[in-house]
Formats: sequence, structure tokens, C-alpha cells
Amino acid sequence: MGTLTKSAALKTARAKPLLTGKAMAVGVATTTPAWSRRMARALGGENVVDLLTRQHRQIKLGFLRAALPGPWRRRNFDRLMRLLAVHEAAEEAHVHPVARRALRHGRELAARRRGEEKEAKQLLVALWRTGPDGAGYLRRLNEARRAVTQHAAREEREEFKALRKAISPSRLRMLGTEVKVTQVYAPTRPHRWVNNEAANKLAAPVLGPVDRALDAVRHRRAS
Ligand SMILES: [Fe+2]
Ligand SMILES: [Fe+2]
Repeated sequence: MGTLTKSAALKTARAKPLLTGKAMAVGVATTTPAWSRRMARALGGENVVDLLTRQHRQIKLGFLRAALPGPWRRRNFDRLMRLLAVHEAAEEAHVHPVARRALRHGRELAARRRGEEKEAKQLLVALWRTGPDGAGYLRRLNEARRAVTQHAAREEREEFKALRKAISPSRLRMLGTEVKVTQVYAPTRPHRWVNNEAANKLAAPVLGPVDRALDAVRHRRAS
């Protein structure tokens, strides 16, 4: 190897400070099977960080819409609950586990995010039970909004930024695909005890279809 090539290799190694040795050993950052690259392309191939950041903006807007009075409040509330449920389910099942394995201090980082999600979920369960016609709805909506937006800002600042640096673009696109697929069948309302990788992966095939069947009944009754 020539001098120039050696210095280029050293620069490349220094450019990934957030990737742990273990993650490098298992090829988290560099190895993406051909089938998953094809699948990512077929599903649009959106980078997981871009996808989740875009959903954070939709969630913030969703909170504002769900506070508006009038006949659309129920529909806006249902949409917000659904988006929050599928968003958090996918993060808990795919994103935090990757952060835990691939980032330096990833274990502590993922544990903090999971703790915040657990607290926010309790507020969301209370909000769900109150519903848009219940007493104290706006107060509960505001409490949940504050917890969720603070949590989302920390995810973007601490976790997503580090993932973007540590994980290869193709792996980030593959994760985006996994998140999209999970969100198709994830539960559509908050469930207090479903708040980690295993619970989400176990609960999704059972609770997802049940929630969606209940949603269909509710919408038929409302129309
Ligand atoms: Fe989250
Ligand atoms: Fe998030």
C-alpha cells in the first residue's frame, strides 16, 4: 500500500468515531444484503433518519390539528394517535436497538429514549381514554404534546445525528424500509406495556390487526 493510500485509509477510520468495535466486527455499518437493497429501492429507499424526522414534523402538526374545535376534531385525533403509535412502535423495534449496538454510549442513549417513550405512553394512554369529547381533553393533549415534542427533539439531536454519522447510507435506507414495513401492521393506539424491542415485535402481529379491526368498526359507526 502506498503512502497516499495509507493516509486515506487512516482518515476513513478516523471519520467513524461513533461506531463501536463490536458494530464494525458484525458489519452493521457496511454490510447490506443485495435483497434488502432491492427491497429498499422498491419501497422508495427513504433514509430512516429523514423518514422519522419527517414524521416528527407531521406529529407536531397533528397535535395542533387535534386541538382545533369542530366536527373534524375526532378524525384529527384518531390520525394523530395512529401516527404516534406506529412511529414509536417502529423506533422501539428497529431504531433504538441499532443505536444501542452501533453507537458509543448507545446503551445509555437508547435506555434514556425508551424511558421517555414509556412516560409519554402513559400520557397517551390517559389521552386515548379521555378522547376528544372527554373532560380535560385539551389539558391532556397539551401534556402529551410537550412530552412527545421534547422526546422527539432529543432523538433528533442525540440519536439520529449520531446514527447518520455512524451507519452507512445503504444501511440507513434499509432501516427506513424496515420501519415502513413495520408501520403497516403496527398497533394504531398506545399500549402501556408495549415499550421495547421484544414486546413490539411480539405484540405487532397480534395487536396490530385487532386495533385495525376496532378502528374499522368505529369508523363505520361514525359514518
Ligand atoms: Fe421515540
Ligand atoms: Fe421519534
